[in-house]
Amino acid sequence: MGAIRTEMLLPDQAGTRRAIALWRAGALVAFPTETVYGLGADASNAAAVGHIFRAKGRPTTNPLIIHVADIATAQRYAHFSDDAQRLADAFWPGPLTLVLPVREGEGLSPLVTAGLHDVAIRIPDSTLARDLLAWFGGAIAAPSANPSGRISPTSAAHVRAGLEGRIEAILDAGPCTVGVESTIVKPEIPALLRPGGLPVAAIEAALGKPLSHGANASKPTSPGQMLSHYAPRLPLRLEVTSPDRSDLWLGFGPACDGAALNLSPSGDLHEAASNLFAHLHRLDTLAAAGTARSIAVAPIPKSGLGQAINDRLARAAAPRDQKPA
Ligand code: TXA
Ligand code: MG
Repeated sequence: MGAIRTEMLLPDQAGTRRAIALWRAGALVAFPTETVYGLGADASNAAAVGHIFRAKGRPTTNPLIIHVADIATAQRYAHFSDDAQRLADAFWPGPLTLVLPVREGEGLSPLVTAGLHDVAIRIPDSTLARDLLAWFGGAIAAPSANPSGRISPTSAAHVRAGLEGRIEAILDAGPCTVGVESTIVKPEIPALLRPGGLPVAAIEAALGKPLSHGANASKPTSPGQMLSHYAPRLPLRLEVTSPDRSDLWLGFGPACDGAALNLSPSGDLHEAASNLFAHLHRLDTLAAAGTARSIAVAPIPKSGLGQAINDRLARAAAPRDQKPA
């Protein structure tokens, strides 16, 4: 454990005031968004942003998303093309991050963008998060509040398990509703940089054109998209319909009798997304207490939110030597 005492804050007046005061003083406060808990710091304070990278063990080549309360504030930090504006109008607040040309001279620490000319921005769809951002009045840089390379947190307890002693405070407002991180889009290309909580089909419909991704794109990718990520402690296998005795089986849908946990017994992708990281955290706990040798995951449809769920599971299943440094 680190040397810092981590305060647990409630989403009441005292807790939110304390969170703002800590941000103004350059400290790190984890806070809930609709997707996952973020590890927030004042994006204009280089020391505070540097502390985010140290607390997470994150390479400084991997830039951070800034979080703002409203579109007017977002426009202070980035140039919006017509397509970018269309997406912001359609989906903010919500689980969409836009990667846009940064406006230089607006005071963002260069660490936030890792020296790139683009900045990633979003407005979270959580009243508490937006109130905090509005009271703070500027941009809060916030990656997911987990040690680098580990499973993202969807509850304050997850944040505490990963970062207690390394950050000043955690604002606990219960579990996140969406459960997977935001979808990241670069409207200029337009390209999908990371599938996430907003399905790609909705974005393509709003733009009136397809997003390039994977092999189609001229390799636009987020620097943080290393393969092995979101790693639980046990090795993980995908698309398993008949697990071995030594497996902990993570089910999906009604045909998974004997599963240790089920992402959604009724086969609902929203429920599965909101349970995904919590179930992976639980499987880690079960694995530590038992004799299982691996995690086996039932097949999950690839449509809609299934794209983000399958993306995160594929990263969790990737060989561990590809983990970020
Ligand atoms: O839902 C979310 O997006 C959560 C909550 C807290 O907002 N945040 C989150 O942050 O998932 P993080 O740091 O875990 O993932 C952000 C991703 C990384 O893969 C990073 O490389 C990419 O966004 N990214 C950030 N700035 C970028 C930029 N300027 N250009 C391209 N990719 C960028
Ligand atoms: Mg992350």
